[in-house]
Amino acid sequence: MVIRSDSLIWLLLLSTILHGVFFLNSVSAVCEFSITEGDKLYNFNLASPIPKFPHGVLSEDGFYKVAVNETVLWFQLCDGMVFNHDPPRCVDCWDCGGPSRCGITCSALLASNIGGYSVCTTIGHASSIDIDLIDKKNPHTGVVVKMSNVGVKLNCSLSVSVRCDLNGVQGPYSLEKTGTCDFTTALKHPSACAEIVHVHGKGWGWFGTFIFIAICMFGAYLLVCTVYRYFILGIHGVDVIPNLDFWATIPQRIQSLFSSLVRRFRGPSEGHRSSYSSVNF
Ligand SMILES: *[C@@H]1O[C@H](CO)[C@@H](O)[C@H](O)[C@H]1NC(C)=O
Ligand SMILES: *[C@@H]1O[C@H](CO)[C@@H](O)[C@H](O)[C@H]1NC(C)=O
Repeated sequence: MVIRSDSLIWLLLLSTILHGVFFLNSVSAVCEFSITEGDKLYNFNLASPIPKFPHGVLSEDGFYKVAVNETVLWFQLCDGMVFNHDPPRCVDCWDCGGPSRCGITCSALLASNIGGYSVCTTIGHASSIDIDLIDKKNPHTGVVVKMSNVGVKLNCSLSVSVRCDLNGVQGPYSLEKTGTCDFTTALKHPSACAEIVHVHGKGWGWFGTFIFIAICMFGAYLLVCTVYRYFILGIHGVDVIPNLDFWATIPQRIQSLFSSLVRRFRGPSEGHRSSYSSVNF
């Protein structure tokens, strides 16, 4: 059955196109996180541009800063830090850029007051980022971005809870010490809101479903008509296809449609026009 395999090919082609349109994802892998729960896929793409935030969750200043007691924390999410103003001034900055470029070779730096000196501790690198949900049962809440630094004497880490908030950025508004050299902070950002994709064929949307049904009906129509014409009317050969005359003129119709469009776009300034002007409608 030629007709059937034809419509099948069309169906496959169309579903491939629809699939491409509905499920196309960004290829950048930095700060991406997905989790499936039930028939939903939650996609977090923290570094991708969203309206009002062309850098996603990344601070436009090049760094976030939070200070509690006499401890100051600078960090950036998903990337290293950049200081165009106000660079950290603390001693012992050698594993995050050294005294002259302090802060620019790590993604989280802590300055604490030790004996009257401000002493630097590198607590995170962009190369060691781990992302997880804040609340495993509720992916809408947001994600925790954890970065770490394996030091000579100490292993340090910073966990940043980024809560989904569509109203804008708030924070960072806390700094807590949770271990020997482990810290947590929190902020709210629209980039931490998951994009939800329905999986298991439920992601077609009404348009895809409509097209799918239309094509199925068309295929069924062709099939039923062909069978009817072949067995009941006894028509054999190419003529078994219903409305063959109509289908045969389709390429011609498309061609004439295109040429009329082309003529319209070229406009009246073209020299070709004179050859048509003798035709009066
Ligand atoms: C730091 O972490 C590394 C690997 O994760 C481990 O081998 C090392 O013993 C740790 N160092 C300290 C001081 O805890
Ligand atoms: C700030 O000070 C309070 C009270 O002294 C202490 O409990 C807390 O851990 C300190 N925070 C940091 C980040 O050191």
